[in-house]
Amino acid sequence: MLAPEQLSSPKSHSSPMAKQLFRNNNKSSSCFSDVFLYLGGALLAFLLLWSLWSYASPDVAGNLGHNVTDSNFKLDSSSKSCVQEHPAVDLRYDPPDTTFYDDPALRYSIEQPMKDWDQKRNEWLKHHPSFAPGARDRVVMVTGSQTRPCRNPIGDHLLLRFFKNKVDYCRLHGYDIFYNNVLLHPKMHTFWAKLPMVKAAMLAHPEAEWIWWVDSDALFTDMEYKLPLRRYDYKNHNLVIHGWAKLIYEEKSWTALNAGVFLIRNCQWSMDFMDKWAKMGPMSPDYDKWGQIQRSLFKDKLFPESDDQSALIYLLYKDKSLTDKIYLEGEYYLEGYWLEIVPTYNNITERYTEIEREDGKLRRRHAEKVSEQYGAFREAHLKEAGNGKGSWRRPFITHFTGCQPCSGDHNKMYEGDSCWNGMVRALNFADNQVLRKYGFVHPDLLDSKTVVETPFDYPEEGPW
Ligand SMILES: *[C@@H]1O[C@H](CO)[C@@H](O)[C@H](O)[C@H]1NC(C)=O
Ligand SMILES: *[C@@H]1O[C@H](CO)[C@@H](O)[C@H](O)[C@H]1NC(C)=O
Repeated sequence: MLAPEQLSSPKSHSSPMAKQLFRNNNKSSSCFSDVFLYLGGALLAFLLLWSLWSYASPDVAGNLGHNVTDSNFKLDSSSKSCVQEHPAVDLRYDPPDTTFYDDPALRYSIEQPMKDWDQKRNEWLKHHPSFAPGARDRVVMVTGSQTRPCRNPIGDHLLLRFFKNKVDYCRLHGYDIFYNNVLLHPKMHTFWAKLPMVKAAMLAHPEAEWIWWVDSDALFTDMEYKLPLRRYDYKNHNLVIHGWAKLIYEEKSWTALNAGVFLIRNCQWSMDFMDKWAKMGPMSPDYDKWGQIQRSLFKDKLFPESDDQSALIYLLYKDKSLTDKIYLEGEYYLEGYWLEIVPTYNNITERYTEIEREDGKLRRRHAEKVSEQYGAFREAHLKEAGNGKGSWRRPFITHFTGCQPCSGDHNKMYEGDSCWNGMVRALNFADNQVLRKYGFVHPDLLDSKTVVETPFDYPEEGPW
């Protein structure tokens, strides 16, 4: 049996390997800065060739074809493509060189710890150089829901809309998304199910620097906001979660952070940390005991089972040095409590509409692909908006904590239809930001089926 102290010993997460990996890494931005040195070189070479080539043949649409490889930058200039992919990744190129995938002992299961992951990922990237440009910021979103149909009659419909919202966000920002609806470890059920998924996603996506877990009942309500990844690179943080140090260390609350949305770097530290985290879950023979320990520490925790959120707070509480690696994000709504957020949508819409009335640049119609540019234009107007509670900036993620869209068993403190109405408003508030690029808008956030076409120079015309 593991004593809590053993689990949280500061030494337990700085293995010699981790030490070696982080040795030269104080100021650098990643778990494996070497990769980026290498990738940086490859990128430079690539850009040089790219610019030389596009200079030489300005009439070609710039399609790099499939033949961009490590030693051979032969360009397929015969096929003119109407879509210019930049940077181009080679989805067909998988050389026969041995990688971790060829190791028969490799297991995706959370049961078996992963070793030397940074090195293995690094090797894979070296063999797949077309993934070098942008590797540092590559994000794969992972989300999911249960295997069986929802008990709530509108549950599956709501989940579909929540998923659509995530797909929209990912498309706008160039992220990949994986939706999983099977239990990857039979014992890791309910809130624990995400850990096996995140581990499997790390193995399936060596090209991605970050895996971003987002609960099925959370949705993006600012489609323009982009994760401030440099902030987490700056001191080499590997896990980013919405939370408040004061609530962990002083108030010892089980809601000191929310484990429903987190970013985790695809690296060995994360593998080690998830092992430790999962040891407080139902896979462990000490599962019951962990539940008791959590309840004795967090007086506001009402249910007896050990849960992933309390487990994470517990680990942080016992070892404050973990905040060197775990970033408690409180500057924006990495996730935010719906009850606090939903009532603000109308005023926010008004403020944003006002901004657009003042700035013709923002009213210009544009291709969806270049939406990020318009998000950047808007930033100039949001300097006074604030962030988080009391702000009139669009909240980044609205999380319907306690609403349980699939089972329908929402917390009794939420009256009548407040959960479902809140969701519909949130979904349409978000959808309006997407539909806008397609020329339409919902005039009423509670009416999902009605849209009107947005006139030229909207919202100069109104009222809306
Ligand atoms: C890649 O190059 C090889 C030979 O250099 C050629 O046979 C092959 O058709 C090319 N593939 C693509 C997708 O252009
Ligand atoms: C919306 O704005 C009005 C007018 O400024 C204000 O009175 C009201 O409290 C605001 N509502 C919310 C939910 O913030």
